[in-house]
Amino acid sequence: MKILQTAAEAVPLVKTGGLADVVGALPDALARAGVTSRLLLPGFPAVRAALVAPRMVASLPCPWGGVAPTLVAGRLKPMGEAPAYVVVAPDLYERPGGPYSDPTGAAWADNHRRFAPLAWAARALARGTDTAWKPDVVHAHDWHAGLVPAALAHAGQPAASVMTIHNLAYQGLFPAQSFLDLDLPQAAWNVDGVEFWGQVSFMKAGLHHAQAVSTVSPSYALEILDPAMGCGLDGVLRAHRGGVAGILNGVDYGVWHPSIDSHLPHRFDVRDLRGKAACKAALQQAHHLRLDPRAMLMAVVSRLTSQKGLDLLLQVLPQVLQHGAQLVVLGQGDAALEAGFASAAQAYPGQAVLLRAHDEALAHRVFAAADVVLVPSRFEPCGLTQLYAMAYGALPLVHHVGGLADTVTDSTLESLEDDQATGFAFHRFEAGAFEAALRRAHLLWTRPEQWARVQHRAMQQRFDWDLAARHYVALYELALNRLGALATLA
Ligand code: ADP
Ligand code: GLC
Repeated sequence: MKILQTAAEAVPLVKTGGLADVVGALPDALARAGVTSRLLLPGFPAVRAALVAPRMVASLPCPWGGVAPTLVAGRLKPMGEAPAYVVVAPDLYERPGGPYSDPTGAAWADNHRRFAPLAWAARALARGTDTAWKPDVVHAHDWHAGLVPAALAHAGQPAASVMTIHNLAYQGLFPAQSFLDLDLPQAAWNVDGVEFWGQVSFMKAGLHHAQAVSTVSPSYALEILDPAMGCGLDGVLRAHRGGVAGILNGVDYGVWHPSIDSHLPHRFDVRDLRGKAACKAALQQAHHLRLDPRAMLMAVVSRLTSQKGLDLLLQVLPQVLQHGAQLVVLGQGDAALEAGFASAAQAYPGQAVLLRAHDEALAHRVFAAADVVLVPSRFEPCGLTQLYAMAYGALPLVHHVGGLADTVTDSTLESLEDDQATGFAFHRFEAGAFEAALRRAHLLWTRPEQWARVQHRAMQQRFDWDLAARHYVALYELALNRLGALATLA
């Protein structure tokens, strides 16, 4: 079975969030499960710079005129020997700013043109345009690849498709007239297609046409079937013949393990945590926090968006810091959140700090230094930072929702007694509940022996990519079977 992984980001080349970690790790895990896959990525500057031995495969459509994008095969230097595909289109991808937005943070107005070529490239490959390799299944990740299942369906289904939702809140919605740029037949402009309340929806196109749909945790798979969390697409999801599979993301322990992490000033593991104490001291010193091993160091490593619920943290911060805890926030995004944490840092010098950056190496050092990692997300499809926290001996404190609920066991009297606790969780999304969980964390912190037991347990958790890969293989087989069944009916 040959799989084409289609996505907008993949570590170590392009990353704005967890999607990149997943797309970077999945192909190797699939290979260990005996399934070959190749990546298809947009030709962002870092991707083009990494492309070795490029070979032109096809010229792609350009319905709006201008320079046609091309599909190129090659290898991506930091990713080893595995062949990959890149859509080369300097007009579309080689711009200042991020993968999705301009330097001011506004989404590029032509994002439908920027991501539609992924679908045309996948369609060309599924049709056998590259005589060297033809996928059986195309795996489309998030709305950027959402047009892939639609393009395949309207091309006579030369391959099966699987659509994975990493975040239903981002849907790729565009004005109706952008449909003319998508190189799809008029029949696709349909409520049973890409049309969503008079707009083009890339996400809906994917969900509607894919033979199988999944998301990144079992709890989120259930939550999004409900109107309260379905972002307007719960009806489309409930109608899907195959339902929505919930496959929990894994951790790439080859990258995220404190005993081998070259970003850390000191290494450590569950048997010897002296290196963790040294990492904490180094971070306190580097960022002008009071050098104090007894202060509970809380950390946030996050995009600063409303999804992440950090407004709740700003509400309770004065009460929390009055017990002497420290806070480091590594993140950037919403101006109001940045301003809130910046003024907290001013109000509590030596106790709170905002590191306004996206910095991969620093993120590793923050997890290694932290005692608690806060993830109070309003919703969270899976979440990776709570998993990295556990691996690095920091206890996650999370809102009990989505993947956070599936991966963190709250410290209660019972779970402590039974040696099951791995962190802290609060159920109602409100300041009082969050503050109560923070208070519990602080109380446990004052009992070092109990803390150490929970910390050990957290560090021993394994969120295995090999298990996730086996589930994906089953999903690919399901998609192929469903396609086969449809062909028999036709
Ligand atoms: P999401 O994908 O919604 O942002 P995840 O928890 O799945 O949330 O993944 C976030 C990823 O982005 C993690 O790898 C995390 O370490 C990383 N990350 C978030 N903010 C930053 C930052 N400011 N600097 C470096 N890495 C960050
Ligand atoms: C999205 C989600 C996050 C998930 C990540 C990878 O960005 O917000 O919860 O972990 O995708 O699947």
